[in-house]
Amino acid sequence: MIPLPNITTPRLYLRPVSPSDAEDIFDYAKRKEVGPNAGWAPHEDISVTRKFVESLLLKRERGHPGVFAVVHRFDEKVVGTIEIHSYVADFKGDLGMVLHPDYWGQGLMLEAAKAVMVYGFEYLGLKRLGYAHFPENYPSKRLREKLGFTFEGIARNNYKRFDGAILDEAVASYTLEDYKRDAGDFHSFKKRISFDF
Ligand SMILES: CC(C)(COP(=O)(O)OP(=O)(O)OC[C@H]1O[C@@H](n2cnc3c(N)ncnc32)[C@H](O)[C@@H]1OP(=O)(O)O)[C@@H](O)C(=O)NCCC(=O)NCCS
Repeated sequence: MIPLPNITTPRLYLRPVSPSDAEDIFDYAKRKEVGPNAGWAPHEDISVTRKFVESLLLKRERGHPGVFAVVHRFDEKVVGTIEIHSYVADFKGDLGMVLHPDYWGQGLMLEAAKAVMVYGFEYLGLKRLGYAHFPENYPSKRLREKLGFTFEGIARNNYKRFDGAILDEAVASYTLEDYKRDAGDFHSFKKRISFDF
């Protein structure tokens, strides 16, 4: 299996998601601002969240890196998840993440995503990291811009949502060449994080 490390950042722990995270995850997965912006329905019941976590765990068995739980170091609560999905070994993957709305706008996902980019480019050998979001999802657009991804265009009718809606997606990428270009920024960031495999 591909190693999925524990990563410590200034405010967060990233570690493999676990079945015992279901309660914390349900606390945000039930909210309508979260799942629909990432393509999935709000969870009506914690049993949905338990199955959802099981599906996240299965990804590792299918040859994917898997899903990090995003744990806030202050209260040790699981406040989100982040992953490299649609993974092709030594080549590419797409960044996906959700965060509890009570924690939005503090740069927490910026911190988590930068750490996962280090993991992707330095440990997984990525040449391209993709990022897709619904065009009206302003927080996700801002996060993509702050991470330095290059906007590639609107992929029309590219996503079928849980409710059957066919939606456009804004598509962006960050390449290994970009990572090398930004090495200085990442060098100072890396001094503030640690990896434990
Ligand atoms: C997208 C998401 C992960 C961003 O997480 P975050 O930790 O808040 O990200 P950041 O704080 O680094 O940046 C978010 C930006 O959106 C802005 N923002 C945060 N909450 C907002 C809100 N309710 N309305 C409008 N803008 C908001 C922030 O101000 C920030 O922009 P700024 O730096 O210019 O001020 C989070 O909003 C989320 O989980 N959304 C629901 C699920 C989702 O959309 N996932 C991504 C699918 S592609």
